[in-house]
Amino acid sequence: MIIELAKKEDALAMAQIHKVEIAQGFLSSLSSSFLQRFYLALIESGYSFCIVAKENNEVVGFASGAIDMNKFYFYFLSHYFFQSFFILLPKIFSSFKKILESLFYPVKQESLPRSELLVIAIKKEFQGQGVGGLILKSFILEMKSKNITVFKVVVGEELKSAIKFYEKNNFVFVKNINIHGKAQSRVYCYKAI
Ligand SMILES: CC(C)(COP(=O)(O)OP(=O)(O)OC[C@H]1O[C@@H](n2cnc3c(N)ncnc32)[C@H](O)[C@@H]1OP(=O)(O)O)[C@@H](O)C(=O)NCCC(=O)NCCS
Repeated sequence: MIIELAKKEDALAMAQIHKVEIAQGFLSSLSSSFLQRFYLALIESGYSFCIVAKENNEVVGFASGAIDMNKFYFYFLSHYFFQSFFILLPKIFSSFKKILESLFYPVKQESLPRSELLVIAIKKEFQGQGVGGLILKSFILEMKSKNITVFKVVVGEELKSAIKFYEKNNFVFVKNINIHGKAQSRVYCYKAI
């Protein structure tokens, strides 16, 4: 198993793993080509990065994060706005409120760290074998190399295995928030020592 920084060509595999493993989330309801561009931006921008786990040269899991969410969203909008607009067009009217809520929730949560673990997901057949733990270790080292010692993660209340995973890995519960209407999410913070 190889754990390394993601390259642009890994973006599609990451989008596919996201769609399968976090099927009920809002991002998963958007098209694969939108998600692929979202991960491309996370790999390219100087404010974010992704770590992948590869087995036989195939991505089997990943973590994505931003050292500054506001700057990352600015990068995404300035580089991918038009492409994303047309890809999202069929959804834009029905999901306009959710898209704005997703984009602007970091602004509403000013008291929380600007750095964030956005998504971690492992292919089902590789879960429960320590791959998530290895990716997280590498993610924390990458954050530290960028002088980030505190970051948050927002996790849906229904993602019980992810909640167990974060608590087992020393994330501290901070508060509950609502990003999309009634759906509850938990905010956890990780503080590197
Ligand atoms: C959450 C996730 C990333 C964990 O990765 P993983 O490789 O399965 O986790 P590890 O094997 O490194 O497990 C580490 C610890 O996490 C906890 N854990 C992981 N999966 C669990 C599960 N299904 N149920 C309960 N606890 C679990 C356990 O405490 C485990 O430690 P243990 O084996 O000593 O008991 C992975 O299960 C996953 O991709 N889930 C679906 C996507 C998701 O919900 N992502 C989070 C969205 S932000």
